[in-house]
Amino acid sequence: MHSLSGSSGNGSNQLYHRFGLVLVPNSSILYIADTYNRRIMTYLLNATSGSVAAGGGHGAGAGSNQLCYPYSFTWDSSSTSASSWMLADGVTGISGNTSIHLVNPLSRVLDPMGNMNVADINNRRIQIFLFDQSDGTTIAGVTNLSGTSSTRLTTPYWAILDDQLHLYVADTFNSRVQKFKRY
Ligand SMILES: *[C@@H]1O[C@H](CO)[C@@H](O)[C@H](O)[C@H]1NC(C)=O
Ligand SMILES: *[C@@H]1O[C@H](CO)[C@@H](O)[C@H](O)[C@H]1NC(C)=O
Ligand SMILES: *[C@@H]1O[C@H](CO)[C@@H](O)[C@H](O)[C@H]1NC(C)=O
Repeated sequence: MHSLSGSSGNGSNQLYHRFGLVLVPNSSILYIADTYNRRIMTYLLNATSGSVAAGGGHGAGAGSNQLCYPYSFTWDSSSTSASSWMLADGVTGISGNTSIHLVNPLSRVLDPMGNMNVADINNRRIQIFLFDQSDGTTIAGVTNLSGTSSTRLTTPYWAILDDQLHLYVADTFNSRVQKFKRY
């Protein structure tokens, strides 16, 4: 699909420890989380180089044009191209276990109503942030309590929704995927 340079680096035809990847529906546009280059790249399918969509060249930090280690991202069809970001959930640079905080959030998924489900790994829970709200509600797991019972999550690395809005959580260190019926 891509003939990038084959070596890692920060050129427009290179990536460095990339993680997330999204193909925009009905298009030939691909976004890649170029994690260790602290940037999100965008490519046309089959192109040999791409361009920076977010972060990149601004160093690590909490500024609105910076990213630290972007592991994954969600593409929202209403987004326009912008060179800086707005905070969607959590508190920049501060972790915690309250309803507004997150600890090492990894994946997130938007439902069709615009609510964001966030895998809040080190709080061992999945939080839902209703559209435009900064206060989240726990919909799976128990805040900062690990365990193997059906209501607990130990390391919820990834969460996805199916088309009926049932939630599937990869509870990685428990070696299982938990299904939670539609909220
Ligand atoms: C990309 O290349 C593949 C293999 O040559 C081809 O099948 C596909 O149609 C190309 N896609 C685009 C969008 O050019
Ligand atoms: C989670 O619990 C552990 C001890 O069980 C504690 O060290 C840690 O600070 C807690 N994390 C949060 C975000 O409360
Ligand atoms: C939540 O954080 C507070 C403040 O750091 C701490 O005292 C409390 O034990 C934490 N709760 C859990 C369940 O980790």
